[in-house]
Amino acid sequence: MNQARSAEDFDFSGKKVLVRVDFNVELNNKQEVQEQFKLEAPRKTLDRIRSFSGVKIALISHFGRPEGKKDEAFSLRQVVPAVERALDIKIRFVDDCIGSSVIDGLETMSSDEILLLENVRFYPGEEADDPAFATELASPFDVYVNEAFSVCHRNQASVSAITRILPSLAGPRLLEEAAMLDRIKDDPARPAIAIIGGAKIETKLPLIREFERIYDAVLVGGKIANEAADQEIQFSDKVLLPKDFQGGENRLDIGPATTAMFIEVIRHARTIVWNGPLGKFEEKPYDAGTDAILHAISESGAQVVIGGGESLAVLEREGLIDKIGFVCTGGGAMLEYMSGNTLPGLVALGEAGEAK
Ligand code: 3PG
Repeated sequence: MNQARSAEDFDFSGKKVLVRVDFNVELNNKQEVQEQFKLEAPRKTLDRIRSFSGVKIALISHFGRPEGKKDEAFSLRQVVPAVERALDIKIRFVDDCIGSSVIDGLETMSSDEILLLENVRFYPGEEADDPAFATELASPFDVYVNEAFSVCHRNQASVSAITRILPSLAGPRLLEEAAMLDRIKDDPARPAIAIIGGAKIETKLPLIREFERIYDAVLVGGKIANEAADQEIQFSDKVLLPKDFQGGENRLDIGPATTAMFIEVIRHARTIVWNGPLGKFEEKPYDAGTDAILHAISESGAQVVIGGGESLAVLEREGLIDKIGFVCTGGGAMLEYMSGNTLPGLVALGEAGEAK
């Protein structure tokens, strides 16, 4: 990535700091967070910022896709207890992300608290990357830190436009993720393969195309494989789609023949990039395909990068998070970056004004 100033060597004393995090986590039907890893990602950075005297921190994030409208179903209030556990910090929730509630929150917060602002996507200005909205977000603060690599593929106000208003710094975790991906992006050990599953077909199909061009094989599973088959999308021989399924006509998991075919490719790979489960992994027995692939990856000896909330949730559940070379908080962002696209959030940080 281009040169962005790191928050690592910045003096935050007495500053009001707005930190962009990615708390866009899956909740299960008991409203429990499935992707604890994402909540823990900014911990070191926040601990460092909090070590300065007189500092006040507010966290800003999106949560789901509420389409620019206030909607309790997408309120970040739901994740407050999980955030407190993950960060070991007392959170004060602010029911807006702009205006007087934020200013009041900053004025009245105690030194052992940090603020969590309400879902930034409750305003249409966020997804429109609107500079006027970014100015409202920025106005109570002195400095901005982006510690959310996983949203850097979104050209949105709290990621891009805000960096043209506030002095802006890159979080150390974000820089570490970009540097790790850089190391295997340009000259991956061959054979290099991508495994792409999950949902969000609109995000992933162009990326499958890109990996089809630059890698040796692309293994596709999950919902996007069903959609690709239904839409009769044509790929070259490099793209392997499932040839059998579990779950009847709903095709809820890859079948044994597909699992064996994928494992054979994985065994020979020297670089593996994986994002997205290959079936409905949250429901037994449709986690079998994803689990088998995950174990094959962890035993492959290849250089491995795994990213994205759902993939990390599987890793967490299987206790494999420490066995994998590198886990990246970003799913869509990681795939975009690895396929050679620039990420607007990283470009914005590189071009941002110097923080004083
Ligand atoms: C993610 O979960 O991949 C990021 O938080 C981005 O979310 P989005 O796809 O809704 O922009």
